[in-house]
Amino acid sequence: MPVRPVSLTQYLVEKQREKGLIPAELRMLLEVIARTCKRIGIAVSKGALADCLGEAGSSNVQGESQKKLDVIANEALLEANEWGGNLAAMASEEMDHPYPIPNRYPKGEFLLLYDPLDGSSNIDVNVSVGTIFSVLRLPEGVKDPDETHFLQPGIRQVAAGYAVFGPSTLLVLTVGDGVACFTLDREPGAWMLTADRMRIPQSTREFAINASNARHWEAPVKRYIDELLAGKDGPRGVDFNMRWVASMVADVHRIMTRGGIFLYPRDNRDPSKPGKLRLLYEANPMSFLVEQAGGAATNGLQRIMEIVPSSLHQRVAVILGSKEEVERVAGYHSQ
Ligand code: AHG
Ligand code: MN
Ligand code: MN
Repeated sequence: MPVRPVSLTQYLVEKQREKGLIPAELRMLLEVIARTCKRIGIAVSKGALADCLGEAGSSNVQGESQKKLDVIANEALLEANEWGGNLAAMASEEMDHPYPIPNRYPKGEFLLLYDPLDGSSNIDVNVSVGTIFSVLRLPEGVKDPDETHFLQPGIRQVAAGYAVFGPSTLLVLTVGDGVACFTLDREPGAWMLTADRMRIPQSTREFAINASNARHWEAPVKRYIDELLAGKDGPRGVDFNMRWVASMVADVHRIMTRGGIFLYPRDNRDPSKPGKLRLLYEANPMSFLVEQAGGAATNGLQRIMEIVPSSLHQRVAVILGSKEEVERVAGYHSQ
């Protein structure tokens, strides 16, 4: 913890004013997102008391059934962000198509993409969930953005982050100048800087994968995991530990904190789905954060942030975390 407490606002003002890294509009947008994460966190923590648990009774465009909190979080982000004048449009896991800023409000130059509630399957069992977001710039000269304007590679992100609703409520953020972690101080309702310039250790002995899919994995991933499971008797010569929360935010946050490798690889369950996680609002923001913290992120064949998206809800294989391990898995793919 820094000696003199630094709030999110102070942190962002410094990036804007002293370093000239972000325009005022982006700072304001990030503050609105952070404020909304606070609201979502309150709904998550009230749970059954506010009738927030369970199914919403609807499905999203990906055919997944929506939980009440998926819908609550999606609407909270829409409402909070539509009138501020910083955005041109928003896109979300829970909406088939992008949401244009209504004509009654001024339009800004940014596009916001988000997974309003990540880890939905964990809501009802009181395990950490979160919100993931990514900010892009509206391409120059575009007045009325449509889906195509969101299809930018991750390297064009101007900011990305996630909130984790766990024992503490955290906001982890990058504007392309390292990664900072803020903890919500509940009484004053303030996000306070609790870790700056987060670094992911280059090497690790901890991995995260849903091993129930092992029979569907492709050869390079099978080989890699088999070698880890063989421990000190295998080719790696050391034992590895496994963790899988099934909330990407929680698994990635563990890796941001103490290192590790996370894999949700392509598998052959459904050839139309190259992986489970979504490129634009899960894989790209997490890759941006991980790279900013000195880690790496690939789909096995290519750096995730260089993939040119072809559709809004496109899925992608994700292998991210400690650099040495991610590079090893990429190496197995190229062999
Ligand atoms: P979401 O709840 O936003 O649909 O995302 C769920 C994702 C991700 O958070 C997690 O890593 C993964 O799904 C877990 O998948 P399995 O249930 O297949 O383990
Ligand atoms: Mn998700
Ligand atoms: Mn989600």
